[in-house]
Amino acid sequence: MQQELAKIVGAENLRPGDDPVYTADETLFAADGLAELVVLPGNADEVAEVVGWCCANGVAITPRGGGSGWAGGAVPQGSGIVLCLERLTAVRSFDPLRWRIEVEAGVTTATVHRLALENGLYFPPDPGAPEQSLIGGNVATNAGGPHCFKYGVTGSWVTGVEAVIAPGELIRVGGAARKDVAGYDLAGLLTGSEGTLGVITSVSLRLIPFPGPSLPIAAFYADAARGCEAIERVMAAGPVAAAIEYLDAATLAIAGGGFPGGIPAGSGFLLIVDCDSGEADRDALREAMAQEALDEPLAFDDPGVLWRWREGLGTLVSSHLGSKISDDIAVPIDRLAEAIEGTIEIGDRHGIAACSFGHAGDGNLHSTFMLDPNDELAIRRAKAAGDELLAMAIELGGTISGEHGVGVAKNGWLHRQWREPAVRAHEAIKQALDPKNLMNPGKKLP
Ligand code: LAC
Ligand code: ZN
Repeated sequence: MQQELAKIVGAENLRPGDDPVYTADETLFAADGLAELVVLPGNADEVAEVVGWCCANGVAITPRGGGSGWAGGAVPQGSGIVLCLERLTAVRSFDPLRWRIEVEAGVTTATVHRLALENGLYFPPDPGAPEQSLIGGNVATNAGGPHCFKYGVTGSWVTGVEAVIAPGELIRVGGAARKDVAGYDLAGLLTGSEGTLGVITSVSLRLIPFPGPSLPIAAFYADAARGCEAIERVMAAGPVAAAIEYLDAATLAIAGGGFPGGIPAGSGFLLIVDCDSGEADRDALREAMAQEALDEPLAFDDPGVLWRWREGLGTLVSSHLGSKISDDIAVPIDRLAEAIEGTIEIGDRHGIAACSFGHAGDGNLHSTFMLDPNDELAIRRAKAAGDELLAMAIELGGTISGEHGVGVAKNGWLHRQWREPAVRAHEAIKQALDPKNLMNPGKKLP
């Protein structure tokens, strides 16, 4: 294998299959990945050749971007190769006056943001770890972040995808045209497929003119029920908030120390509403937040400090007891308060510390069970609590994953969320595109 693949990518672009840099992601408990070889092709043609060789020889492929995932999607499961896209870093084309860009899979999400901003434009999807995560991985997981409330998740910005599908063929679906309804939405299928249908090598993205600076406001409430009522008032206020984020009482207790502002006594819920459409809109949103708030809603002189603190929440919560099992369930907005309270109840029932925070406007919770990684009993309890949490999300009419994907972490659960005929259609698509099951096996589908 090593000799054959070295002929395609060069021996200097191979790494051992147990190289920890390429076999883990950010998901705790999915960290012990192992492959036979790590392969780093330099362009889309080499990707096609590598996939071709793997398909001809029955070798499994785990595609990998920046390794910032939270579901183990890029973690190899013991055999085959890791196919890392980090060397595909070309900006294929950038046309600021026409609001479009085509970038290869290995370009960091931060680079896409920066190129857009430098030209008065905006690429809204803002999943965490923008310096680490690569745009190909963001598209492959259809990643989201706070500002996807107003602007939609990554897939809403993809107008075309170039990918290698089995048995090693480079395809292009869509491109610079903003509309294309000719075929089945193959670009949409590859988006969010978590590498199980093909390897994305390049993406065409839509941009918009920069809307305006972030003008966030924060308000505290006594509990989740009152906080969620405020969310409904914010949504009815008129102006569309750019982001609507929350922290529950338990997350506030852990992370509140770093919050760039005062926290009133008796706070059980923090709501952060961002506005990028000017001060008049910001004031209307602030007024909607004020009712039932514990204190006057707070504006920020330096929104950067607030957003950096928000981005660090996942890490803060992990370090509280040393580790965590964390999910990304999403529920209809009218069930959000129940899901927040349900997270704590499930934790209590299993004797495990729980908290949640996340993208309130999208009904998307990062429900988290915190634990000491050396405590076997706590790990078992947290896993049982995690299963109950996913079941609750389905019960509330939501989903097991609003953001991070299924990966290995939630594998098998789609079968609980969907009815049998829908699952069969899903499996038929996999079978049609990857008949030998070599594309990221063990992920998304059992
Ligand atoms: C966040 C990551 C965990 O929203 O998705 O912080
Ligand atoms: Zn998130």
